[in-house]
Amino acid sequence: MASLNLISQIKGKNRVAEFALPRPSRTRPSRVGFKVFGSQSKKSIETEPDLSVTVNGLHMPNPFVIGSGPPGTNYTVMKRAFDEGWGAVIAKTISLDASKVINVTPRYARLRAAASNGSAKGQIIGWENIELISDRPLETMLKEFHQLKEEYPDRVLIASIMEEYDKAAWEELIDRVEQTGIDAIEINFSCPHGMPERKMGAAVGQDCALLEEVCGWINAKATVPVWAKMTPNITDISQPARVALESGCEGIAAINTIMSVMGINLNTLRPEPSVEGYSTPGGYSSKAVHPIALGKVMSIAKMMKSTFGDKDYSLSGIGGVETGGDAAEFILIGANTVQVCTGVMMHGYGLVKKLCAELKDFMKMHNFSSIEDFRGASLPYFTTHMDLVRRQQEAIQQRKAVRKGLLSDKDWTGDGFVKESESMVSN
Ligand SMILES: Cc1cc2nc3c(=O)[nH]c(=O)nc-3n(C[C@H](O)[C@H](O)[C@H](O)COP(=O)(O)O)c2cc1C
Repeated sequence: MASLNLISQIKGKNRVAEFALPRPSRTRPSRVGFKVFGSQSKKSIETEPDLSVTVNGLHMPNPFVIGSGPPGTNYTVMKRAFDEGWGAVIAKTISLDASKVINVTPRYARLRAAASNGSAKGQIIGWENIELISDRPLETMLKEFHQLKEEYPDRVLIASIMEEYDKAAWEELIDRVEQTGIDAIEINFSCPHGMPERKMGAAVGQDCALLEEVCGWINAKATVPVWAKMTPNITDISQPARVALESGCEGIAAINTIMSVMGINLNTLRPEPSVEGYSTPGGYSSKAVHPIALGKVMSIAKMMKSTFGDKDYSLSGIGGVETGGDAAEFILIGANTVQVCTGVMMHGYGLVKKLCAELKDFMKMHNFSSIEDFRGASLPYFTTHMDLVRRQQEAIQQRKAVRKGLLSDKDWTGDGFVKESESMVSN
């Protein structure tokens, strides 16, 4: 097994040369900014809209990325994702010592909307998990990354990693994942359960000083683009996102799951999901989190625009995506890519075809020929409440003035003559 041999040579001296693989074109840092051409570039589209994106120098056939979690747990499912046409795959989060990761079952609980239209059960709208990061041995995961990159050299594979508060451990993990030929790294600063007890995941993403230090170690070591995946379980998500970018990360991914308790069983009086009668707060995902994710991504996008202007940092929107419209919303507020995790767990890998078709329909409706044509187009329409009040008062004054008509012939003006005439017409 060639790949096994290569992995076993990781500790060797000339490991970079030994692992040299064909990769998608990549220059670090190569960044994608917030360019909005929108209506200025509207033209009648005869050809199909182009869904391809280039993010931090990585080319993807479409913006749909498998989010870190069960859909990226092993070679078989990641291969399936590439075969079905996903734009990129982010593997399940890995760490140096998987033997410390011990999962329980059941570890999922779902929330359904009220049953309707004669169906016995309502649609699943919320999903809670108490799953930890990957419990598979690091060697196995690295071997599978290497094999995938050999078989799909032109497709984008991103490793998701997490480690304890230990510089040497982060450096070793980065070194080892990079040797497999992966194209980028997403740092899980956001897992809300289990891992914070070991000062990992959200424990780092919620502490800007810790985050700055750990990002410094990571970015001094990494040679591929690094995305920081942020937790929504914090008052202002834009603050750690800014720290991550200032500390050398190329992109931000948001959001990870929202800390939640799915419910209490009213018969047994025990919380769900129940493991031997006990539970622990978990991470909430799926459709119900989409509006919260939009709010968080919007505030990160606003911060990125105001703090970093046209610098080409990337933004990956995550949370409750099941339709092309859900994805379009993330892109309209500035996301370059859109990740899907629970949607794949509910609908399977073929979902990407529906997502692409629906996103294309949206683009055709507006005559957008590329993702950049509308990326960020809705962002300028978010303002403060005070500004909404001012705008509404101005609009009311204008409508009143028009409705009133002229009280006296002395009120006619040259500039407003046509409007003034119209204000006194009855039909
Ligand atoms: C069962 C499950 C396991 C997950 N495991 C990870 C993980 O290992 N690493 C990670 O960064 N995010 C993990 N996530 C979070 C997702 O990647 C994603 O951020 C979140 O679920 C919101 O997106 P969604 O609504 O599309 O699922 C997991 C989510 C679920 C549902």
